[in-house]
Amino acid sequence: MFDLIVLGGGPAGYLAAERAGHAGQKVLLIEKRALGGVCLNEGCIPSKALLHSAKVLDYAKHGAQYGVNISGASIDHAAVVARKNRVVKTLVSGVAALMKANKVTVVTGEGMLTGKNTVRVGGDTYEGRNLLICTGSEPVIPPIKGVKEGLANGLVLTNREILDLPAVPESLVVIGGGVIGLEMASYFNSAGAKVTVIEMLPTIAGPTDREISAILLKNYTDKGVVFHLGARVVEVTENAVVYEQDGKTVSVPADKVLLSIGRRASTKDIGLEAAGVYCERGAIVTDRRMQTNVAGIYAAGDVNGRYMLAHTAYREAEVAVNNILGKRDVMRYNAIPSVIYTSPEVASVGETEETAKEKGLDVEIVSQQMMYSGRYVAENLAGDGICKLIIDKKRRTVLGAHLIGNYASEIIYGAAIMVETEMRVSDIKELVFPHPTVCEIIRETIFAC
Ligand code: NAI
Repeated sequence: MFDLIVLGGGPAGYLAAERAGHAGQKVLLIEKRALGGVCLNEGCIPSKALLHSAKVLDYAKHGAQYGVNISGASIDHAAVVARKNRVVKTLVSGVAALMKANKVTVVTGEGMLTGKNTVRVGGDTYEGRNLLICTGSEPVIPPIKGVKEGLANGLVLTNREILDLPAVPESLVVIGGGVIGLEMASYFNSAGAKVTVIEMLPTIAGPTDREISAILLKNYTDKGVVFHLGARVVEVTENAVVYEQDGKTVSVPADKVLLSIGRRASTKDIGLEAAGVYCERGAIVTDRRMQTNVAGIYAAGDVNGRYMLAHTAYREAEVAVNNILGKRDVMRYNAIPSVIYTSPEVASVGETEETAKEKGLDVEIVSQQMMYSGRYVAENLAGDGICKLIIDKKRRTVLGAHLIGNYASEIIYGAAIMVETEMRVSDIKELVFPHPTVCEIIRETIFAC
């Protein structure tokens, strides 16, 4: 009998196993593919490795603008992928070591709940006092003509296959201008592919602040990516993607197609019915302690369909384990940062101008050009980045922060602390920021209100 059985070894699962093991619990972790899950093996980490190579190439190609002449810079895609694989291997073996250090038993195989306390893996059944479901998410595959065939013959790729392409395709059509679509469009555009993004909505980057998504669109249009917005894909043929826009049907030639129209919780065939776990719209429903409707069964990460972000999964896993250990802890979602690792980077936290308006919040919007940061000017040529803060008019606290410009990914946690702790504008004004840094833009923006 285990104290805790964790199903799924991604960020939620491995972190929960580590924490519970560290606390002295007897833990079993079941993973069907590789420790680290989508994040480490086919998501966050490998895509960042690719994007870093693109950044190095872009610097080399545009070095002359900074007084550095480099000729013949080019990408060796196979070497980029090989380096990406080494990065993944290092981190996955790090997770394995972590499991060992915390005395977690790891079983490779597909686990299935057979009751409230039992999980079957192949011919073996394991018993646990508590269960934590962390089975993650998978790409949405739409019933669009030709997609199934394209996936089978290698024309259509998901986030998994695109990271291992042996060569840069001449043309890449991306279906869906969300996070995955934009990050991959960014890499393959730098690597020399002709990239076209087809997005159903009139804007890219989903719920991102409208002004910021427009700046991002302009940056990538200038870099040569072609966008078709308000466009609905109706068919994928052997060598093209067909979409409808304003009543017209248009065909775009494609050597490869990336399908990135969102992800859905992985709740199928894991025995949720046998255990009586309740789902809504395909995702497990939990309370703020991450417990499902069944006492002793918890769920954390993408599988609960709330935020499909690894860092949210980490915190949800901690909350679940703390409750299992008898410590009171609840999940809060008001200050979850999110980042798009394009160049320029986009990062945000909390309310946007749009959500504040929808909720009828009385807010002041303060915006400042990134050019107000000395370091940003020193490192960017005519950069058009901005920082936007959403301030509660009465309470004078920060409700949201939105940035476009490089290093935004590393700056946003500071803004998240401000949102989470409901810091007052007057208190932020008294903070000392390191100089010269791009994060000083937060200080500049705060002083503009
Ligand atoms: P997404 O939800 O970010 O974007 C999907 C886009 O596809 C949306 O803009 C949607 O309007 C569009 N779309 C849907 N159906 C379409 C159709 N038939 N034709 C054209 N466009 C269509 O989903 P994505 O990019 O697949 O990412 C999945 C998840 O992975 C996200 O929830 C994200 O949180 C996570 N992720 C996070 C990253 C990060 O934090 N940097 C990086 C990559 C993924």
